[in-house]
Parts: sequence; C-alpha cells; structure tokens
Amino acid sequence: ETEILYADPEGFEEAVGVAVQQLNGGEVVALPTETVYGLGANALDENAVAKVFEAKERPSFDPLIIHIARKEQIYEVCELTPELEVVVQQLMEAFWPGPFTMVLPKKDIIPDIVTSGQPTVAVRMSGHPVMHAICKELGKPIAAPSANRFGRISPTSAIAVEKELGGRIPLIIDGGACNSGLESTIVRVELGEKRPELHLLRAGPVVKEDLQKIGKVIRPKKPRNIEEAPGQLESHYAPATPLYIFEKPEDFVPDPELSYGLLSYRGAEKDGYINLYDWDVVEELSPGKGKLPEAAVRLFFALRQLDESGVDAIVAETVAETAIGVAINDRLRRASAKTRGQ
Ligand code: TXA
Ligand code: MG
Repeated sequence: ETEILYADPEGFEEAVGVAVQQLNGGEVVALPTETVYGLGANALDENAVAKVFEAKERPSFDPLIIHIARKEQIYEVCELTPELEVVVQQLMEAFWPGPFTMVLPKKDIIPDIVTSGQPTVAVRMSGHPVMHAICKELGKPIAAPSANRFGRISPTSAIAVEKELGGRIPLIIDGGACNSGLESTIVRVELGEKRPELHLLRAGPVVKEDLQKIGKVIRPKKPRNIEEAPGQLESHYAPATPLYIFEKPEDFVPDPELSYGLLSYRGAEKDGYINLYDWDVVEELSPGKGKLPEAAVRLFFALRQLDESGVDAIVAETVAETAIGVAINDRLRRASAKTRGQ
C-alpha cells in the first residue's frame, strides 16, 4: 500500500527524514516540486531508477531529469568546458532554483538508464522547500520524472499522484498543491558562434522572453526519430476521455448522442466556447480575468476534473500564444493528439 506523509510545518522534518531513508534504501518516493509532483529515486542507483520506469510504465528510451540541491553539484554530474561553464552559470543565476531544466553533456557517474544512453543529462534545481530539503539531505542527485503513468496528465497534488501510482509505490510526500502547475522549461545549451544557443525542447514557466536575455532561443524542428528528441512525443498529457481542440469555436459540431465537457479559459463572462453550447460540465481556467499564469496552475487539475466527470468528450479552448500561453497550448495540443489519431 502507498503511504502519504504530510510535509506541513509540523510534519516537515519527519517527512524529509523518511523520504531520505527510503531513497537511500533504493526505493522510489513521490515528491512535490513547484511544477508538478515527481517520482524520485537516487539517480546514482540503477536499480532504484529502474523502479521509476516500472511504476510509470515509461519506455526505457525516454530519459529522466535529475534534481540537485546546490549549484556546485552541476560539476559532479555535467562535463563542462570553460566556455560552456560561463553560459551555464548565467542560466543558473537567472533561473535557479526554479522551473528550468538544462540539457548538458553528462559525466560517467550518471548511469545510462537515467539518460536512456544519451551522452547528455537533463538537470534542474527545484525551488520547492520540501524537494530542496530532501535533495540536500540525500546529498546525491534525484532522478524524478513527473509522477504520472506514461503519457497521462501530470499530477499537481498528492491526491492526483495517488490516483496515478497508488499501490505501485511505497510513499508519497504531500507538499500541497504545485504553484506553477506546468512542467519545467527544458533547453539544450550549446555555445553557438556569437551568442549561446538555447534549444527549446519543452516550453514551460520560464518563457522565451526570459531566455532571450541570455541566448538565442532556437525551436528545434520536428524530430525525425525518438532518439533525436526523446522528450518530444506528440501524444502526451492525455486524459482517458477524447479531447478536441479547434481552430475557431464555429468548427465545433456536437454529436447529439454525446455529452461534452468544456475546458474554458475565461469562463462565463466572456465569449469563446462557453455560450456556444449547453455543456454538461465546464471547468474554468481563469474566470473573467484571463490571466495566463493562473490558467497554467489550474490546467492539469481542470483536465483531471473533466476526465473524471464522466462526459463522452472534452472540448478545450486554446489561449493566446504568448508567454506561458505557449506552454499551455503545447500541452493541450499533445493532450488531443491521440484523439486526432497522432
Ligand atoms: O517540472 C519538471 O520538469 C518535472 C518535475 C518533477 O521536475 N519533471 C518532468 O520530468 O517533467 P519528465 O520525465 O516527465 O519530463 C522530462 C522530459 C522528458 O520528456 C524527457 O524526454 C526529457 O525531459 N529529457 C530528459 N533527459 C533528456 C536529454 N538528455 N535530452 C533530451 N531530453 C531529455
Ligand atoms: Mg512527464
């Protein structure tokens, strides 16, 4: 059975201690971060990392992110030339701790199972106090992908983790709801000719405008195969219920036999999809205000609510393609890929 420990102020130290003990013993533990919950294992312990893949049913070709507690730890896990080190330091200074992940050449200490045999490793330093404390006390990097079964919606609460992985893992540390709500931004860092090149592998809370202050942001072309860009699977974040997105509201033609749920951006006060149809269920991301960060925080929670509501299909409204709206639309597009047959 899966135990849940609360890392509230009273239980903080005990929860951290138990988590570290489990990790040291080669077990997996679900941990809170500011983005989504992760399923953590000691990154230097191949057998523990194998359990992460098993619990998530994640294919072995999809590499994991490792989490560190101190900036200096980057030198233990990454092989950096002096030129690259300068850029990496600027990026750490700007975005760590926080929802930002760098893909860099790895050191031999990182087992191949973590990186799926790639010569690079994805590294991040979380700003969540619970994750930070556990990582610091363990003293080793923690490999932690999102704590969902492969291809499904990422969990932003301990309850959501339990629904995804309950019975498969021994322990969940409950650190409350995630306050960023979307997975970290991932960039592959390269030197480039004039400016550093930041290849944006996954859009996230650190947005293009932030990254441009440090380097040239490059959006990789569609990968030719999985080895080329393991993290860019088209279908991902998918609810069990079919999910549709449309170019414009008029493109939605309901099937009278079916019941529909709506994922609305601004809710009832604004135009869009809400007044178009008598929806069975509506989830609003940022009612009235239409604030993109608020919408990002609520996105996965709202998708789960709709998925569990029993409707036959979900229609999702996309948002403005600016700032974190890029990441929201990216997740919605991937969540609907299966429905589109991709
Ligand atoms: O916010 C987050 O990043 C969360 C929390 C738990 O830290 N973690 C997370 O991990 O989203 P995961 O495994 O669900 O997504 C990591 C992505 C995957 O799509 C993986 O393919 C990609 O990062 N990735 C990992 N290592 C890579 C590498 N060496 N090169 C390219 N992509 C990599
Ligand atoms: Mg994931």
